Amino acid sequence: MNNQSTSSNGMDRQKEVYIQGIGGVKQKIPFDSKGLEATASKVMSDEAYAYIAGGAGDGLTMKNNLNAFSRYQIVPEMLKNVENRDSTIELFGKRHPSPFFLAPIGVLEMAHKNADIAVAKAAEACSIPYIFSNQASYPMEKVAKHMPTTSKWFQLYWSKSRELVKSLVQRAETCGCEAIVVTLDTSLLGWRTADLNGAYLPFLRGLGIAQYTSDPVFQKIIDSFIDNPEQDTKPPLNLKTLSVLRQMLMSYPDQGLIKKLKEGRARAAVKAFTQTYSNPALSWEDLNYLRKCTSLPILLKGILSPTDAQLAISYGMDGIIVSNHGGRQVDGSISALEALEKISPVINGQIPILMDSGIRTGADAFKAIALGANAVCIGRPYAYALAIGGEKGVFELLSNFKADFDLTMGLSGCKTIADVKKQVLLKS
Ligand SMILES: Cc1cc2nc3c(=O)[nH]c(=O)nc-3n(C[C@H](O)[C@H](O)[C@H](O)COP(=O)(O)O)c2cc1C
Repeated sequence: MNNQSTSSNGMDRQKEVYIQGIGGVKQKIPFDSKGLEATASKVMSDEAYAYIAGGAGDGLTMKNNLNAFSRYQIVPEMLKNVENRDSTIELFGKRHPSPFFLAPIGVLEMAHKNADIAVAKAAEACSIPYIFSNQASYPMEKVAKHMPTTSKWFQLYWSKSRELVKSLVQRAETCGCEAIVVTLDTSLLGWRTADLNGAYLPFLRGLGIAQYTSDPVFQKIIDSFIDNPEQDTKPPLNLKTLSVLRQMLMSYPDQGLIKKLKEGRARAAVKAFTQTYSNPALSWEDLNYLRKCTSLPILLKGILSPTDAQLAISYGMDGIIVSNHGGRQVDGSISALEALEKISPVINGQIPILMDSGIRTGADAFKAIALGANAVCIGRPYAYALAIGGEKGVFELLSNFKADFDLTMGLSGCKTIADVKKQVLLKS
């Protein structure tokens, strides 16, 4: 990885690829988004692929997300002297070399054993900020160590325990996160048909709950579950159940296997998680509590309606992420790109807008910026690259996104992000 370029210049990346090709070396990560997903699907388990690729219901929102991009066409302008291009952006007083962020993605251990750590290393090498997921496979403190210079943010799922919310936010602040992203669209789990077909939910096997099991407040919640065992629906007792129990124990941190078994903490942790994780009772007023917990900028993720965007401003939020969670929550929802077009005039530059759900190419990012996004988040593509090539795979993918964006900008007649305006687009 070390001898590969970290430049944002698309021509440098092209040169690198073609020169390596002379020696018969091809890149591991397919350059097209369909090839990327197809290759990833071959290296992942069926459950992992279903969990990452799947969406809510019949997948209409996922389709809407992708189709929306083809309704906007770029109108390139010529002879604009685009020899020197600058794709840097500024957010909350900090400059970033490109308009890309990494969206929070949970349970990355399903894609690769090094999960969030591998992603953090690649993000650091490419100077692309990474939003740590509340459902990460490694605790934020361990992941943050691999990002000494590049920005890291923390994404919060607001649980039923306010003390846990406060603890997670304070840990994020202590380990150097520069903003808190509250995801609002997952207060209930969407009707995810691929996971339901496979009867597979990773959290019930102890995966993706590392931020919880590493938390002192959550440890106390676990204690209360050990003292008061719940009478839950129990799975059938057979070899498969025992193998899940083993996976659960292996995922639980620090203690010896026997001790974990004895105390039943690993099982209690899963139970405690399922009972506390989501909070459908949340309302706008709750945001005042979060504001008291942290002085970091707070962004709301999952905003799709102009009314909510206006409310975010009224409640003193510092930014929004226009997103429909990659179509994993509501089937048949508005595409994130069309939502962005409606929301940006309402925000009108008062607070930054990030956008995700459907970003697959540099041209997609260009269109989102033209419609008013200050930055975009890459989601599933980096999970696929992680599955295919671990840290190096994510590095390649991010280098490709930066290169593709730079070339799209230059070829469209834009020298800077400020040149990427709605006027460069035509809607059909
Ligand atoms: C497997 C998977 C796990 C995700 N986990 C989280 C999460 O923990 N927190 C969160 O806010 N969003 C999560 N998301 C949503 C992403 O942050 C992002 O909104 C979405 O991936 C964008 O859609 P796209 O990947 O199709 O572009 C997840 C998405 C996927 C695919």
